[in-house]
Amino acid sequence: MSLINRNAFFIFLGGAAISLVIFLGLTWDTHRQFGALTHADKLSEQVVSGKHVWESKNCNECHTILGFGIYYAPDLTRVYKRIGPDSIKAAVKTPETTFATSFRKMPNLKVTDQEANDLTAFLEWVSNIDNHDWPPQDNAEAMSASERRLTGAGLSRGAAAFKENCMQCHSIGGTGGGSGPALDTVGNKYNAAIIAGLIKDPGSVNAGSRMPALSYVSDDDRQAIGEFLAKQGGGQS
Ligand code: HEC
Ligand code: HEC
Repeated sequence: MSLINRNAFFIFLGGAAISLVIFLGLTWDTHRQFGALTHADKLSEQVVSGKHVWESKNCNECHTILGFGIYYAPDLTRVYKRIGPDSIKAAVKTPETTFATSFRKMPNLKVTDQEANDLTAFLEWVSNIDNHDWPPQDNAEAMSASERRLTGAGLSRGAAAFKENCMQCHSIGGTGGGSGPALDTVGNKYNAAIIAGLIKDPGSVNAGSRMPALSYVSDDDRQAIGEFLAKQGGGQS
């Protein structure tokens, strides 16, 4: 072996040894944090029952959770934060009506009320695991897929988030639902910060408000919607 080759060999050995030490150190550090990252203290009996339902109904056959499962249907790691408890129960108990207009088919797995509650508790627990923003599309600052499409087509993030979360009940310029008031001139009444707060807690602005609290709308979306609506003064802009 020439001197050069021998040096290269020792550099390789040294490098491999150092990398191994770093790798083992990081692995040990991660394991040390598991209890806190998964908030193991909140692992109630209901959460455990929900996990058993998840397994017995084979939800993994179509869905992915924490990286395990099939990508036929939406990733459910953060579904609790994405759509909330009532929508989860509706999806699980009556998929044929919840997804009536969709080309993909979620089967009715004859989930009982008790099982639906347990599954929801399990999915809530999973959604609170700190897995460093994985999957990335459900990062709290990220936009939803449909918001990304709408902003790609030229809408502002606020307008896209308004369309996605509010228009089934509110209208602007005559377009939208009628169960809440039209918001054409709402900018004359409230500023962006007040609207952002109202979305999370309508009662804080108007005690006794009939609007449901939309706690699942992310902070960034609430702010963007607030800025968008604060500009609605009934003028041409
Ligand atoms: C045979 C495949 C299949 C199985 C098994 C299945 N699902 Fe689904 N699920 C789907 C599909 C497909 C969708 C998306 C429907 C759509 O958007 O049209 C869906 C949607 C959902 C949604 C709404 C997701 C979202 O982001 O809006 C939830 C919640 C859900 N499923 C929960 C479950 C649970 C819990 C189980 C087990 C009890 C389960 N699913 C079993 C196919 C399946
Ligand atoms: C399920 C229907 C529903 C949804 C979804 C909804 N709202 Fe409302 N909203 C209402 C109703 C009903 C009221 C009237 C509340 C009252 O005064 O009793 C209201 C009131 C308001 C008001 C006060 C209007 C005023 O003149 O005082 C604002 C602002 C508002 N909503 C913004 C939003 C925004 C922004 C979103 C989406 C993030 C949203 N709403 C989603 C039903 C809804």
